[in-house]
Amino acid sequence: MAVNDSQLVQLFEQVLTLSKVDASQSVAILKSHYSDARTVRAATDAALRLGAKVYAVELPSFNHPRAMGNDMTAYCGDTALTGNPAAQRALEAADLIVDTMMLLHSPEQEQILKTGTRILLAVEPPEVLARMLPDAEDKARVLAAAAVLEQAQLMQVKSAAGSDFRAPLGQYPTVTEYGYADEPGRWDHWPSGFLFTWPNEEQAEGVLVLEVGDILLPFKSYARERITLEIEKGFVTRIHGGFEAEYLREYMKYFNDPEVYGISHIGWGLQPRAQWTAMGLHDKNDGMCMDARAFYGNFLFSTGPNTEVGGTRKTPCHMDIALRRCDIALDGQTVVADGEVVAPAASRVRQG
Ligand SMILES: [Fe+2]
Repeated sequence: MAVNDSQLVQLFEQVLTLSKVDASQSVAILKSHYSDARTVRAATDAALRLGAKVYAVELPSFNHPRAMGNDMTAYCGDTALTGNPAAQRALEAADLIVDTMMLLHSPEQEQILKTGTRILLAVEPPEVLARMLPDAEDKARVLAAAAVLEQAQLMQVKSAAGSDFRAPLGQYPTVTEYGYADEPGRWDHWPSGFLFTWPNEEQAEGVLVLEVGDILLPFKSYARERITLEIEKGFVTRIHGGFEAEYLREYMKYFNDPEVYGISHIGWGLQPRAQWTAMGLHDKNDGMCMDARAFYGNFLFSTGPNTEVGGTRKTPCHMDIALRRCDIALDGQTVVADGEVVAPAASRVRQG
């Protein structure tokens, strides 16, 4: 199926309206040669139709010699904006940036947000944007869950596959992604619909067991066998299983950086329009697979950088790993039971 250009402009109009773009606003479209040309056009047209002042910032692409693959999350930290203060000033001058290039996990992005500029990342294919068009209900559902996570001192995750993980919380803020950037200094990603925080430094511990069907990003693969990760004092210390464990071990080792093993963001998926199955229908070069990160009731954990909340781990390797069928508890209160969202009440939606 394919979304036509007229529909794509309409979709952008809805999301930019939710992001408070109007005639008082200036909108920068950040792009590089690999940006989806249709997305760039539609974002520009939609912002113009809303009366905004629009300009484009195009940067030459950046490729780190150690980077592998085309996935935009496969190398974090340095971007095309690194060391380019003139372009940075141009972006900071905007009220809202539509990022079709990918600044995520860069210190430059954090600096831009501190000036009050909002950023909306949009790098998924038009058909994925259309299926997961955000609305006010998505925001309400994610914020209801955030109100619980913000107060929590401890997250525990267990599963029939053998996961038994605990993460003391409180050192880092809760981050929400509901699909639009409607507050000063807010970063968001269309599409999304989940929330997360970071464990207190050097305190996460236990075992996380990837069951068959769980998803590894940026590999964009469904696990075909169990992979066990042992976590001590905030770091993955052992990865064992069969071939897939060996692959993960070798991939992380390649970066030659002990910080890649740090436990990064942890949280759960709340987007009912995101599908666990979607990744199987896409080519690996079709965007970054937000379906896997956002599907309803997943436990999403990650390894590597924590710079987006002021941490010191600026490391290029970032694994996002989505587990199904977990129990997630906050201070003893179950929020996800066997992969089903059970609390808070406002975050539940009817499925199907
Ligand atoms: Fe991540």
